[in-house]
Amino acid sequence: MKLKILVAAGDGIGPEVTAEAVRILESVAEFGGYDFEFRHAPIGGTAIKVHGSPLPESTLDAALESDAVLLGAVGSNEFNALPPNRRPEAGLLQLRQALGGFANLRPSFAWPALCSNSPLRAEVVNGADILFVRELLGGLYFGEPRSWDREAGSAWNTMRYTRDEVIRVARVAFELARARRNKVTSVDKANVLEVSQLWRATVSEIATQYPDVTLEHQYVDACAMHLMNTPRNFDVVLTENLFGDILSDEAAVITGSLGMLPSATIGGQVNLYEPVHGSAPDIAGKGIANPLGAILTAAMVLRHSAKLEQDAQAVETSVRKVLEQGYRTADLARGETRMTVSTQEMGRLVYQSLNEIIDRRQAMHAV
Ligand code: IPM
Ligand code: MN
Repeated sequence: MKLKILVAAGDGIGPEVTAEAVRILESVAEFGGYDFEFRHAPIGGTAIKVHGSPLPESTLDAALESDAVLLGAVGSNEFNALPPNRRPEAGLLQLRQALGGFANLRPSFAWPALCSNSPLRAEVVNGADILFVRELLGGLYFGEPRSWDREAGSAWNTMRYTRDEVIRVARVAFELARARRNKVTSVDKANVLEVSQLWRATVSEIATQYPDVTLEHQYVDACAMHLMNTPRNFDVVLTENLFGDILSDEAAVITGSLGMLPSATIGGQVNLYEPVHGSAPDIAGKGIANPLGAILTAAMVLRHSAKLEQDAQAVETSVRKVLEQGYRTADLARGETRMTVSTQEMGRLVYQSLNEIIDRRQAMHAV
């Protein structure tokens, strides 16, 4: 197994959490005898400072030459005054577009050990296991025309989807539902938006090719409420770019912290992996960020790019064990300091737990 991974750690807490994810991938490679090659490149605010651009050409070239890109986070308050197309975030959006992945998978899972961490009642979240499939290359993020006419005091963006864009992401959602609990909830605003009517009609059409999968439609406002009231009713949630951005942050409440959520973007030339959380400038450099979102993102690299399902599960099991042992980063600690650990300590605990699992697995194979 050979895999070229470009690490674009980016801004804020990106480098801290990504370092822990890379350590996990390195140890999986070492134990399994896989050849993972890591290269590093700047993106976001860090890249603006050095190269004057949030996505330098050298970074883009390196990304296109790799098998997978592992991104940390982008965003920095220093650039708040810049227009959207020159901000750190633009680097990530350009990268997403260049790599071509259109299906952004964002699992939101209620870890049993963390159920009491959610502001929702434990019995509401316990057992929730949702996979968001967020369309990543269309909608308001990329639609033209877009502009801000300062003199006229008017600004506009365009929410646009083509049938083909909806078909390809819908297929991913239905396929994934087949490997789960056979249900897709498609989320739109078809009572108001034409683009949502196209979305709904197209998804319904594709659903006929998956008679074993149940399709339900929800308006995005209702979905936002159902996610908090009855998170267990969801399996795969299929939605467009901006709705997916908003709902996946909301779903972090189920898990107890935004710091827990991983993501993988598939369907393009090169898969892109990034935790859902941002650069969190307020806690950057303090060693208190939660690396589990990044580590679970590394598990998605193993699953979707390396096709090492067993190793992906081993990483997820390690995370579960460390949480069951009671270890928490500050975001999960809820004021309790006894078992609160730093970013690096959390990374090391997962690493240790992973080594134990792999050792045991290899011992079993040896007899
Ligand atoms: C996310 C982030 C990005 C997005 C930003 C940083 C451009 O919020 O991955 O959810 O809006 O897609
Ligand atoms: Mn977001």
